[in-house]
Amino acid sequence: MTGLIPPILLVGCGRMGSALLAGWQADGLSPSMVIDPAGTAPPGPHHAVADISALPEDFRPAAVVLAVKPQRADQAMQAVAPWTREATVLSIMAGRTLVNLRTALPDAGAIVRAMPNTPAAIGRGISVAVAEPGVDATRRALCTRLLQAAGSLAWTEDEALLDPVTAVSGSGPAYVFLLAELLEQAGAAQGLPPALARRLARETVAGAGALLAASDEDAASLRRAVTSPAGTTEAALAVLMDEAAWPDLLRRAVAAGTTRSRALAS
Ligand SMILES: NC(=O)c1ccc[n+]([C@@H]2O[C@H](COP(=O)([O-])OP(=O)(O)OC[C@H]3O[C@@H](n4cnc5c(N)ncnc54)[C@H](OP(=O)(O)O)[C@@H]3O)[C@@H](O)[C@H]2O)c1
Repeated sequence: MTGLIPPILLVGCGRMGSALLAGWQADGLSPSMVIDPAGTAPPGPHHAVADISALPEDFRPAAVVLAVKPQRADQAMQAVAPWTREATVLSIMAGRTLVNLRTALPDAGAIVRAMPNTPAAIGRGISVAVAEPGVDATRRALCTRLLQAAGSLAWTEDEALLDPVTAVSGSGPAYVFLLAELLEQAGAAQGLPPALARRLARETVAGAGALLAASDEDAASLRRAVTSPAGTTEAALAVLMDEAAWPDLLRRAVAAGTTRSRALAS
């Protein structure tokens, strides 16, 4: 799909909504509408209103993007339903299933559900999307463009996969931030001045991520490349890679996130 992104109605312009909006604007966005109670929508070729009641009745968006917290979903979907007729609804709300969305928005032209992640704020997110059966290529292409404006995208035909996706990439940035926190604390425990420990941990996590992104090699190869036999990295990795350490911990963490995502689904 080329040219401007067709008119969008963005419902909820918090962290994720504003990250997507910034990406669409950079990609070229037709005049669109944003519902933004906090009044913090970035300026651009769109009109921001604080409340759905202020939306022009004759506005016909090509896509309605639902980016409110799941707890606000019922209220928001009820209010926005008249603008979803014929439109492609793209929900990024955690735990709201395609069946739940279709029940709330029976007149929508198509419904697609996606799980992005916070690096979307710098165009480096990754999303996984799933469409209800029968969604045509044009509508899928529009969703692809909307989600790729925030980073990369994978489609799946299996909605159940969105639970482990949530636990791996949706929540994943938090695991990496925790790694930076713990590396800083461990450095300070070895006598580094706190400010230096923080700087080393932060730059190491950010730099290693950038190196991984820039490289064609997989993570295991990059790890092996910095591990000399009987060296310092090998000594530290022997602790981390013990079967009871990171391999088990991460499996349990992702399993806990997946289980929680399933429990929250409605
Ligand atoms: N953040 C993530 O890492 C992440 C990742 C994947 C998916 N998601 C999904 O993205 C959605 C948004 O998350 P977020 O982190 O961006 O939350 P957020 O920062 O709280 O943003 C939600 C925004 O929606 C507004 N809002 C509330 N009720 C509304 C309504 N009826 N109509 C229009 N706007 C309304 C809120 O305004 P007020 O603050 O004034 O209520 C807020 O500005 C969630 O469903 C979440 O599951 C988030």
